Amino acid sequence: MNQRFEPSGPLTGELTAPADKSISHRAAMLGAMASYPLRIENYLHAADTTSTLNAVRALGALVEVRPEEVVVRGTGLREAREPDVTIDVGNAGTPLRLLPGWLAAQEGRAFTLDGDESIRRRPVDRVIEPLRLMGATLDAREGRYPPLSVRGARLHSISYTLPVASAQVKSCVLLAALAADGASTVTEPERSRDHTERMLLSAGARVHRNGRSVTVTNTDELVLERVRVPGDPSSAAFMIAAGVLVGGSRLLIRDVGVNWTRSGFLRILMRMQGIVLGDLEDETGELIAQEPVSDLDVAAGGLEGTFVGPEEVPLAIDELPLVALLGCFAEGETVVRGAHELRLKESDRIATVVEGLRGLGADIEATDDGFAVTGAGHLRGGVLDAHGDHRLAMLGAVAGLASREGVEVRGIEAAAVSYPGFVEDLERLAR
Ligand code: S3P
Repeated sequence: MNQRFEPSGPLTGELTAPADKSISHRAAMLGAMASYPLRIENYLHAADTTSTLNAVRALGALVEVRPEEVVVRGTGLREAREPDVTIDVGNAGTPLRLLPGWLAAQEGRAFTLDGDESIRRRPVDRVIEPLRLMGATLDAREGRYPPLSVRGARLHSISYTLPVASAQVKSCVLLAALAADGASTVTEPERSRDHTERMLLSAGARVHRNGRSVTVTNTDELVLERVRVPGDPSSAAFMIAAGVLVGGSRLLIRDVGVNWTRSGFLRILMRMQGIVLGDLEDETGELIAQEPVSDLDVAAGGLEGTFVGPEEVPLAIDELPLVALLGCFAEGETVVRGAHELRLKESDRIATVVEGLRGLGADIEATDDGFAVTGAGHLRGGVLDAHGDHRLAMLGAVAGLASREGVEVRGIEAAAVSYPGFVEDLERLAR
């Protein structure tokens, strides 16, 4: 479906951020692995997170969707049911990479994970390697792509250094480590989102962090009774960008998760002189279980270009397309480096963002691991193809509101993967 987004007058009013996708996925999976019923408040009801509920159902969990909560009655850590069908993760990369960690520990049982056309281009060799080292048997198409098959085994503990900073791969190894034969340590090249560690801590697991390393001790059971999912900073980021870019705007965005491993975009935006007020979490030394939230007060204003380097990339990975858009309106150059991982998302986000924004009149160049934008202070507008990628679809809509001539987004329906109601929310604020 194509939709035009015309240049907008000021965005005003309040919005409650939609529920966090990453944390919803994790709550559903940890609920399935836990020994007692888990009540999840504010679960995200979107295509991706519904895929995860269906996946854990196929693995034997009982899932009840009530108006005010989702209740997951799990099978326990070592009792996932072997389904007689392929587990379909739809478009969702997080269950594709996290579930194999749990399934690798199901001794003697076999599982196959698959998904849509875009999932079939998402590499899984990054989880195959550590899980094989732990003793499980895994196979994938060309050794690298879904369908992914997993045969569970009695797992050995491991000390593993991730070749790339990926919260999904880190989480996969941590979930497998719960049922291994001792303590396991995962070291990442740069810090990435730590929702899994925080939730495992809430579930009574022994989890310790030391710099870029996380150690998990094996356990008999997870005990997790209640999770409240905060608002998603990645979804909120689109509204924040719209508020900063459309002249005269002033927005209050409520209930945004401000875990410091997710607020890289807000720090980048503030460095660009964007006006955002909120109570962001400072980098935490010791691991904590809480997921802090804050209301954010956003106002439109002039921006300056900035440099985003490799250590900041995992903390803003899903918002980097928006950094490119902000760069179009900023004074000077905005450069992102060390973000090769963007090429492996729902689309090749270096190629699709550069092609998309160029088509709207931006002065932007792709590099192997990022992009460089020369700001013009404005954007002409035109047509942007979402390439089936939810974040591209939302990027195009925000660009349209801030542009001179409007933007037609091809494939706007992709937005519903993570943010159902996105277009309605944007239109309400722009009224
Ligand atoms: C996610 C981690 C990131 C992110 C994705 C969600 C997660 O992926 O891009 O949208 O929930 O752990 P990588 O771990 O592959 O970087």
